[in-house]
Amino acid sequence: MASEATRHRSWAEPYKIKMVEHLKMTTRAERDAAIREAGYNTFLLKSEDVYIDLLTDSGTSAMSDRQWAGMMLGDEAYAGSRNFYHLEEAVREIYGYKHLVPTHQGRSAEHILSQIAIKPGDVVPGNMYFTTTRLHQELAGGRFVDVIIDEAHDSASEHPFKGDVDLAKLERVIAEYGADHIPYVCIATAVNMAGGQPISLANLRAVRALCDKHGIRVIHDATRVAENAYFIKEREPGCADMTIAAIVRAICDLTDGCTMSAKKDALVNIGGFLALNDDDLFDAARNMVVVYEGLHTYGGMAGRDMEAVAIGLHESVDYEHIKARVGQVAYLGRKIHEFGVPIVVPIGSHGVFLDAEAFLPHLDQDVYPAQTLAAELYLDSGVRSMERGTVSAGRDPETGQDRRPKLELVRLTVPRRVYTQAHMDVVAESVAEVFDHRDAIKGLRMVYEPAQLRFFQARFEPVA
Ligand SMILES: Cc1ncc(COP(=O)(O)O)c(C=O)c1O
Repeated sequence: MASEATRHRSWAEPYKIKMVEHLKMTTRAERDAAIREAGYNTFLLKSEDVYIDLLTDSGTSAMSDRQWAGMMLGDEAYAGSRNFYHLEEAVREIYGYKHLVPTHQGRSAEHILSQIAIKPGDVVPGNMYFTTTRLHQELAGGRFVDVIIDEAHDSASEHPFKGDVDLAKLERVIAEYGADHIPYVCIATAVNMAGGQPISLANLRAVRALCDKHGIRVIHDATRVAENAYFIKEREPGCADMTIAAIVRAICDLTDGCTMSAKKDALVNIGGFLALNDDDLFDAARNMVVVYEGLHTYGGMAGRDMEAVAIGLHESVDYEHIKARVGQVAYLGRKIHEFGVPIVVPIGSHGVFLDAEAFLPHLDQDVYPAQTLAAELYLDSGVRSMERGTVSAGRDPETGQDRRPKLELVRLTVPRRVYTQAHMDVVAESVAEVFDHRDAIKGLRMVYEPAQLRFFQARFEPVA
């Protein structure tokens, strides 16, 4: 018998369930019809045909009773809503940025920032692209340049901070284009396209120092900054005794502002913002938000939504919350890994990323292995995931050719506070089932391709 000192002690979610939502179970024949109807694109499935929805962690969180109570305190005045001031206070307290421009979600903040900061011909270095972020940079006439460390592109590398910037790459970009053509360096925390991989504080400090030397701003995509902070606490020497809030603040203090999709860390179904320290840039952003989003004291959000974001931001830096959130993803990842299925390691913050190239080595990238795998997983169990590979990477605007990303991934994204451990077991077993029958899987060909962000609406057919 294990002694008291050695006995394993489990931990559980720091909340209990107050309301439930019914899930529809489907048959294989129903799923077959549904995925065909959806053009083999999981974005085009009806949510009611999905059993466990791991499409995204964006806007899919369960809000807390405090957030729902906050919704009742919505001040829906057109101008000067009290909820705006609560949100401004929360952003100043938690992130420390001086100015707040609310937006209806993250990409609107990216749009405004890109329009006011980027001139045609500029380049924006960053630690891996994100789909909407890069597109807005391109629409403003800029070009994204990837300066993340090489390990980030290697799904098997166990590097603890695969979100780190390669400083030599960044120096080369500055030398080649000149600081005058770099409006800012774009730093994501818990880098989504790398598999939810964190950047270290030490690396961010070095980026800051290099940018200071050249007078270049550092803008932070803070969408999952609390999740990144959890990994810093766990892994970075000297940070174990820091609170999540202190680490989040330390990250933000090294940057000049942020774009934020509040639909992730901040535990709301809709919302976002741009936060800036620079007075002039803020003035330009405040002028632009009224054109595209709404008055600068609501920016596309209802008062009640701003209140829920303000409360969610406080909840996001609670240690027990973030430990359970990242812990649930790790539980799913370990389980899938134990079945021998190739995944991105270390397991990331917001989802488990299947390595579709290693899963389906007989499929060329031309037949979209990750898109195919996402469709197969849905067919097996009704679990919805999403492609993060060739389809998401899109075409190079200069050559018109498909980009060939090194990572061909399927993302199983875990919504916050929504599913139980039993749901995670069902997902892992379904992935294992598809893995067992992988040799029989054939690819897809694209039969409809939208001009922008094609992964959302593209349609496919099975190859013969
Ligand atoms: C890292 C990152 N940045 C920006 C965005 C865009 O945010 P939104 O979907 O709220 O427009 C997302 C959303 O998926 C994201 O993951």
